[in-house]
Amino acid sequence: MNKLKQKIEELEKISMQLEPSAEERKKTRDKVVDYTENFINNIYNINAFNLTDNTGEGLLETPISEEPIDIDKAIELFKDNVDFPNLNPASGGHLGYIPGGGIYNSALGDYLADITNRFSGLFYTGPGAVRMENMLIRWMAKIVGFPPETVGNLASGGSIANLIAIVTARDAFQLKATEIGKSVIYLSQEVHHCIDKAIRIAGLGECKMKFVDLDDNYRIKADAVKKEIEKDKKDGRFPWLIIASAGTTDFGVIDPLDELSEIAKENKMWFHVDGAYGAFFVLSKTAKPRLKGIEKADSLVLDPHKGLFLPYGLGVVLVKDKNKLNAAHYYTANYLQDAVAIEEEPSPADLSPELTKHFRGLRLWLPLMLHGVKPFRAGLEEKLLLTKYFYEELKKINGFEMGPEPELSVASFRYLPKEGDANKFNQLLLQEILKDGRIFLSSTNINGKFIIRIAVLAFRTHLQTIDLILQILKEKVELLLRDWE
Ligand SMILES: Cc1ncc(COP(=O)(O)O)c(C=O)c1O
Repeated sequence: MNKLKQKIEELEKISMQLEPSAEERKKTRDKVVDYTENFINNIYNINAFNLTDNTGEGLLETPISEEPIDIDKAIELFKDNVDFPNLNPASGGHLGYIPGGGIYNSALGDYLADITNRFSGLFYTGPGAVRMENMLIRWMAKIVGFPPETVGNLASGGSIANLIAIVTARDAFQLKATEIGKSVIYLSQEVHHCIDKAIRIAGLGECKMKFVDLDDNYRIKADAVKKEIEKDKKDGRFPWLIIASAGTTDFGVIDPLDELSEIAKENKMWFHVDGAYGAFFVLSKTAKPRLKGIEKADSLVLDPHKGLFLPYGLGVVLVKDKNKLNAAHYYTANYLQDAVAIEEEPSPADLSPELTKHFRGLRLWLPLMLHGVKPFRAGLEEKLLLTKYFYEELKKINGFEMGPEPELSVASFRYLPKEGDANKFNQLLLQEILKDGRIFLSSTNINGKFIIRIAVLAFRTHLQTIDLILQILKEKVELLLRDWE
């Protein structure tokens, strides 16, 4: 045999290790499935947080090498170093930050997407995949009240989705570098930090950022925005963008979307709403009226990996004007000549920074198909009522100072000891909660006050979890008061 062929065949023998046999696949798959089944079957009994010095260094003892390890060893490494330390976001006891989810059928969607590996960047190569993603975008547009011609993108998360929206707004106004210094963005101090990041990444760091006055519940005062815009116009500045939150991260409150949209319209500005946390609450009958005006945004971000309980990895941007989203992201190249723009279904590659991307649609489509929308709607309504229940029950316990009445599913509070430093007390209280580990809460700092917050959005959080938090809070306060002077 010729030497070249011989060499190729030798290499093939080795490279074929990447194509395990049906028997080998079953063996590996069974081990992974056993692990995940055990994980889910125990999820209501294991901690939401493991306070430990283990930061996964054990992984480094098995470096990436030329030789393989077996699946048992790989799972053991994962279990001890990744799946044990600190936060367990799949737990219903995860009530910190804005919890994610992890519904099972979404993982199966990813599994299908990964094995079949359909190319979902271009309609030409993956018409079904692109159609599926666009169908989901149109469904989301419909539930928030956007028109049927809305376009969008399934991005990796809320941060990237917000970035896509801001870049689109920038290009819609064709902001030139020389104009950026006098261009003004109106927003709240309570906006998620990814907005600030997106503004910088979009090259807009030199825009004037007007952090407008907030009301007592930390919502933007629409009147203040109006006044600032008038003043800026008189001073020769260029007001072009208003950014509002449909559910802030700290307090879960909703800016006055309807009024802000009117102000943006009157002043021919772009109105962007970050609904990464709260927009899916349009599915809840109780919350929907509170989100009035969301349908008037030019661009909106929603995070299925928050509000639809999906595992991490899906944030969505919707933009009403297809041409604007397209103009900011469209590109072509010689090697893409066969894939010329097909009008029937716009391609994600023309509407986002990505070309090759994870087929994210399947992780949302499969659960929506297999469950229908009803349990998602019920889950959101349940989380809303659980938060109200928590708020009312905690208020009854002496010593707790409550934050704003929850509009969605975030409540905040702190314990006020009769004497001594309240910040110190609440830091210790949070530390005790983390040491206990059954639930995970996080804190924020508002005007120098250390405030503890609970965000109810994990799909596994139910009434029992909230009763447990109330019990833990009572226990830990009593414990701390014993030594408090
Ligand atoms: C209101 C809000 N916007 C944006 C984000 C950022 O989203 P992601 O973490 O998916 O990038 C978050 C994250 O918690 C958020 O709460």
